[in-house]
Amino acid sequence: MRTQVGIVGAGPAGLMLSHLLHLHGIESVVLECRSREYVEHRVRAGVLEQGSVDLLHRTGLADRLLREGMRHEGIELRFDGESHRVPMTELTGRAITVYGQQEVVKDLIAARLAAGGSLLFEADAVRLDGLDSDSPVIHFRRDGQAEELHCDFVAGCDGFHGVSRGAVPDGVLRTYERTYPFAWLGVLAAAPPAVEELVYANHERGFALYSLRSPEISRLYLQVDPDEEIAAWPDERIWAELRTRLETVAGWSLNEGPVLEKSITPMRSFVVEPMQWQRLFLAGDAVHIVPPTGAKGMNLALADVALLGDAFAAWYGQQRTDLLENYSTTALRRVWRAQHFSWWMTSMLHRLEKDDPYETKLQAATLRYAVSSPAYAASLAENYVGLPAV
Ligand code: FAD
Ligand code: DHB
Repeated sequence: MRTQVGIVGAGPAGLMLSHLLHLHGIESVVLECRSREYVEHRVRAGVLEQGSVDLLHRTGLADRLLREGMRHEGIELRFDGESHRVPMTELTGRAITVYGQQEVVKDLIAARLAAGGSLLFEADAVRLDGLDSDSPVIHFRRDGQAEELHCDFVAGCDGFHGVSRGAVPDGVLRTYERTYPFAWLGVLAAAPPAVEELVYANHERGFALYSLRSPEISRLYLQVDPDEEIAAWPDERIWAELRTRLETVAGWSLNEGPVLEKSITPMRSFVVEPMQWQRLFLAGDAVHIVPPTGAKGMNLALADVALLGDAFAAWYGQQRTDLLENYSTTALRRVWRAQHFSWWMTSMLHRLEKDDPYETKLQAATLRYAVSSPAYAASLAENYVGLPAV
């Protein structure tokens, strides 16, 4: 099999890249090790920055997003028994939209298939070869058979556990990382949200987040120990902990309902540089991870491939090499801004170490500053809604 750009991974990064290339008249094949059903129902992120919404809009993918997505103009910070609104749109002129990652993925898959795009599900990339030649090969397995995809370039969009990053020879990449002594337990519940905007809570028992997916579905998160087993969290324990951490404001209570899905996600900050080696271009979680507190993961993945789409268009359309050559440097500026913001939000809102009173005081001072200084709140807001250019 042969194509122009071979894409490993059908997450937001790989699918959006394939869509962008199609709009530029460039062929691609996407290899995805999971089934279509699996990737369309994997519950993950839910917050789209203004720039991501604009990208979906610009590329003809916003019909359902405009109908079902929920535009939010502020977030709430809850701490010390008080609740404070950060008026993001008032501060920045921009907003976020709540729309589940799996909905973005469904819309992208539908658009690619409607355009006759080549998406191979249950096709497991096992090895990349010839990345330093002008004809790299992706070796993959499908239906128990070994197959090859020959291409001009490989886009490694296969997430943190994919094969692409590992295809770069030793000594080329440098890794920067931080792990955190906690994880997030995420819950999707059939309960009407008791909030109109997202609530980020700093509580002495740990962080909690109240988000939503629709007028009927709530999405909630709890900080838990990193080695926690999901079996230790029956639904009643989850609701009790959510009540403790979120019902800290007089007269406010959350709505409970059947738990539809729950899982535990570890937290890490991780960047690999550069994001390119020879004919391999890495994008999204394959090359950087942020802790989810700033809601940046999916947005960064989309921002990476927006750059790559333009860079491939310049290469194929005008034989220009500069955008491909500059891809890593350009993308890393946004990546590091988001790394800092995600680390900062995480540090401000979680119990970092057990019983560190100095840290607790610093967090209280930071939160108090964020809700009392328009300048500091504007900094939070412009990062949260997404900086147009970095
Ligand atoms: P992915 O979405 O991971 O897509 C990579 C794809 O590659 C996958 O479909 C995978 O099956 C496929 N793949 C992997 N290896 C191979 C292979 N060898 N061959 C073929 N295909 C392969 N962000 C937030 O902002 N908020 C959240 O609440 C949040 N929750 C998360 C929960 C989890 C469990 C995870 C893992 C991430 C979460 N994120 C969250 C981050 C966000 O979802 C990611 O940043 C986003 O999915 C990145 O998109 P991507 O396309 O780069 O990678
Ligand atoms: C959601 C996830 C996040 O990581 C976040 O910061 C806000 C909202 C969500 O899944 O809705």
